[in-house]
Amino acid sequence: MAASRKPIISGNWKMHKNHFEAIQAVQKLHYRLDGDDHDSVIVTVHPPFTDLRSIQTLIEADRMKIELGAQNCHWEDQGAFTGEVAPPMLAKLDVAYVIVGHSERRQFFGETDETVNLKVKAVGRAGMTPIMCCGESLEQREAGDAESWVEGQIVAGLAGLGGDAVGTLVIAYEPIWAIGTGRTATSEDAQAMCAHIRSVVRSNFGDDAAAKVRIQYGGSVKPGNIAELMSQADIDGALVGGASLDPDGFAAIVQYRNH
Ligand code: 13P
Repeated sequence: MAASRKPIISGNWKMHKNHFEAIQAVQKLHYRLDGDDHDSVIVTVHPPFTDLRSIQTLIEADRMKIELGAQNCHWEDQGAFTGEVAPPMLAKLDVAYVIVGHSERRQFFGETDETVNLKVKAVGRAGMTPIMCCGESLEQREAGDAESWVEGQIVAGLAGLGGDAVGTLVIAYEPIWAIGTGRTATSEDAQAMCAHIRSVVRSNFGDDAAAKVRIQYGGSVKPGNIAELMSQADIDGALVGGASLDPDGFAAIVQYRNH
């Protein structure tokens, strides 16, 4: 992790926790983290939409430094899109980060590189930071196609953006075969792909964007493997699924410097 990029560790709760459970979890997490933790790491939590208002109120009332995130959004600001949530609605709830193009959304809900691109732009327009996900399947990795696949996702997902905008983004590399499987990429494999992603950003958006863009690794991140992942030059943080549901475990991940 380069010193100029502040690490960012994000908890993607997926479809877990109602708003009462969410309040409890964020309170516990807050008590486990101290000022040094927040000075060293940006901590974001991404609960389901139904929890956002409760968590926003809690963060504001207790002046917590935890940042609020969402897991998805639509790309239009409003309109006849039953069941969808618009970026300005999230921004109004003090949501600062929005996960875009998670592999579960690509796999189960028909997200494409084109909709990911529309969403990345819409999130930025609303003043929030996208966490754009990419990553290959096991078949693609075994066929030797992982790097070109991820490059295609990055180039298509960021199409039309300028270097300044790309420099503010977070990109999450989540190999699909490592999500929820307990099978983490080795830190060498994770580093190699994150370095590749940075070089793709460099060749398409310039040196400054490549130096600034923050790249997270995701896929079975746990208290026991975070320190080694974070010691890699191009890994600036983590997108944590299952292990983020337990506030003690997630706090231990945020405190990887103490391991
Ligand atoms: P796990 O940490 O449960 O493998 O999930 C990773 C993930 O998908 C985070 O977005």
